[in-house]
Amino acid sequence: MEFNTYTQEDIFGKRVLMRCDLDVKVNEDGIVDQYHDLRLERIVPVVHQLFGYGAMQVVLIGHRGRPDHKDMSLSLAPIRDRLADLCVSEGLDEPITLIDDISVDPLAHKHEPIIMLENLRFWPEEKAGDSLFAEKLSLWGQVYINNAFGNSHRADASMSALPGIMDRAFAGPELIKEVSTLESFILEIKKPFMIVLGGAKISTKLPLIEALSSKADAILLGGGLANTVLKARGKEMGESLVEQEMLSDARDLSDSAIILPDDAVVAEGRAVSVDEIQPDEAMLDIGPEANTKFVQLIQEANTILWNGPMGKFEDSAFEKGTYEIARAIAQNQQARTLAGGGETVEVLEKLDLVDKIDFVSEGGGAMLTFLADGEMPGLGSVKI
Ligand code: 3PG
Repeated sequence: MEFNTYTQEDIFGKRVLMRCDLDVKVNEDGIVDQYHDLRLERIVPVVHQLFGYGAMQVVLIGHRGRPDHKDMSLSLAPIRDRLADLCVSEGLDEPITLIDDISVDPLAHKHEPIIMLENLRFWPEEKAGDSLFAEKLSLWGQVYINNAFGNSHRADASMSALPGIMDRAFAGPELIKEVSTLESFILEIKKPFMIVLGGAKISTKLPLIEALSSKADAILLGGGLANTVLKARGKEMGESLVEQEMLSDARDLSDSAIILPDDAVVAEGRAVSVDEIQPDEAMLDIGPEANTKFVQLIQEANTILWNGPMGKFEDSAFEKGTYEIARAIAQNQQARTLAGGGETVEVLEKLDLVDKIDFVSEGGGAMLTFLADGEMPGLGSVKI
């Protein structure tokens, strides 16, 4: 895919409006989770580059969470704070002004070098793709950059209507890197190819399974995905997390590449066969046998795609399956490895394995959508 890319000439002396992935986890103390700021770390070099090209001002826009009205518990203030710290640690010592009211005259703020507009989803018009809202946003810059790969599967106003209104709309370096890496990943699959999928919902992963199952030698399922398929195949899953409305789709999933866990970890860290889960029990991690089998398949692979944890990894009693999978993928240095998704990145950050994976995508849903479809609404206005 070819994109409109900017040069110094496009940026020099301009107010630059850049759509970024700002949706990162904020902990109970109101600060950005230390294992969840990869998206913010990747924004800093781009801001640096824009000032290096002589940008007059950089206006960052993005969202956090899924509010449908102004909900200050989802303010971008903690994101602004962490990003400002990251900028300082990279020698970019400028304050970031958070603007709450996007209807004020942008020119009244033109002397503030870095601006962040408040959570765009505070305005329902953002999700509705509203063009009047996009026009309001367009006043904040002379040049638009989409650097938010992670949100490019959404046709939100800031992703699709806004670049259409702006005189100049470009793809940012992170977006281009994501797309080109994912494209080459699919084109250069070396067999055996293993896909490892976990997390809560199978509904978000079915299109990817359908698109890539003919290429995959094995699709290893864990988490709520495995629970749902196991239940669809007649297992008693007790109180396990199951996507009830997907049972019939899961039943139709007859792909022979799919490998399900044979055993589970239930309460108090007890391992049982998936045939022995009691009605009052829940599968909270893949069991030791499944773990060994999955790790072995990962060790044999030459291409690996990973998205989603194998269980309730945030609880130490149920972290083993996810952690062993992460370590096995990172240790397989002969394989081309790709991982993405909020929780997946969190695990890799916690285990200090980000650098051991060939590419860690900023997108969860966006990575799955792009791998399955090769297209996304947010790319339309910035590609050639
Ligand atoms: C993300 O942050 O991963 C994307 O922006 C998608 O968020 P959404 O699923 O809330 O649209």
